[in-house]
Amino acid sequence: MLKGKRILLIVAGGIAAFKSLELIRRLRERGASVRCVLTEAGAKFVTPLSLQALSEDRVYSDMFSLTDESEMGHIQLSRDADLLVVAPATANILARMAGGLADDLAATVLLATDKPVLAAPAMNVRMWTHAATVANVETLKQRGIHFVGPNDGAMACNEFGPGRMSEPEEIADAIEELLAPAEQPLAGKRAVVTSGPTREAIDPVRYISNHSSGKQGHAIASALAALGADVALVSGPVSIADPPGLRTVHVDSADQMLAACLAAGRIDIAVCAAAVADWKATRPSGSKIKKKAGTAPPSLELTPNPDILATLSKPGPQRPALVVGFAAETENLVANAIDKRQRKGCDWIVANDVSPAVGTFGGERNTVHLISASGVEDWPTLAKGEVAMRLAGRIALHFSLPPKAEAAE
Ligand code: PMT
Repeated sequence: MLKGKRILLIVAGGIAAFKSLELIRRLRERGASVRCVLTEAGAKFVTPLSLQALSEDRVYSDMFSLTDESEMGHIQLSRDADLLVVAPATANILARMAGGLADDLAATVLLATDKPVLAAPAMNVRMWTHAATVANVETLKQRGIHFVGPNDGAMACNEFGPGRMSEPEEIADAIEELLAPAEQPLAGKRAVVTSGPTREAIDPVRYISNHSSGKQGHAIASALAALGADVALVSGPVSIADPPGLRTVHVDSADQMLAACLAAGRIDIAVCAAAVADWKATRPSGSKIKKKAGTAPPSLELTPNPDILATLSKPGPQRPALVVGFAAETENLVANAIDKRQRKGCDWIVANDVSPAVGTFGGERNTVHLISASGVEDWPTLAKGEVAMRLAGRIALHFSLPPKAEAAE
């Protein structure tokens, strides 16, 4: 039920806007109050009068209306709700959200809000699969925007495929799920997650690094935080955004990453998903190494980096109760990962294939094997966010079981 919940429904300009009328009914039946923002394009498909009659509230459209601003400014409008729902979320409004535009009331409210946002996309199949929309949706997901749908099916434009807006009941269910009091089985637990690559300086302009994007590690940090853990994310240099709702410490080198992990103090959970460079330059040059005509290329002497996972796994009073490592392998994946778990002394290791053909580095999906003292579990190929939620769920389960039940997990 949605008793007492306040929904701000943003209706953008798509043929699916007619379903938003039905959505208002469904939400009110479940006990929510609904206030509507209608875009100029949305008003070509549904009238303010229909939205007003069904929501029993006035409809907001004009950012520059003096009455709107004096009675209810756009900032207040964006804050006076428990959830913002964009339905239909057209390619245009998703692009404006991803670009941070504030060129009408709907976009401004979405930019100004501090509340969760759920988008129900609706558009032609080619618009939905266009690289620009795919990138915009990815950006929005990384910023924490929630999505429901779209569904597959026949469209008003006589094409078939993904792009139909979810049915009002499905959207109402998704809203209920989002607003349900979240279970926080990891409340009170402190976690450190490492993510991304490290950069080891050769000289002020060159470095040793790898292709890690941070997507897997960042998703794990978010998933642990969603289950109530107090998370510090220690991230190497990545181009994705810091996840909302947790602390991110930015580092470059393995030495800095280790120092940041140790500075977190006593923790219960460590997840080492970073791709730490195994070696660093023994003597990084303080100035740019010059190419000299007629001389042989310089040779690079390397020194091993500290092993962060092995350091955190060392037995002692400071050891986290659960240390999870990752194993990135290009051959003999599971056998090498089992060996790595033992060598590094961690409790669990998540093995993934990083051969270029698999596309794990930087990709959206991952196929992992969870290796613990009780054996090897093969997980199906999942989106990195789903791998993260599943891993966080397993971590929560671990802490809910008595110590000797580990073998049965
Ligand atoms: O970032 P993405 O693009 O999303 O890609 C995700 C990922 C492939 C980077 C991630 O899923 C992953 O596999 N991370 C671990 C990569 C790695 O360095 O694996 P490894 O097998 O070389 O190291 C084993 C473990 O030791 C890892 O937990 C690593 O963090 C840790 N390690 C390694 C070296 C070192 N000096 N210190 C460490 O702590």
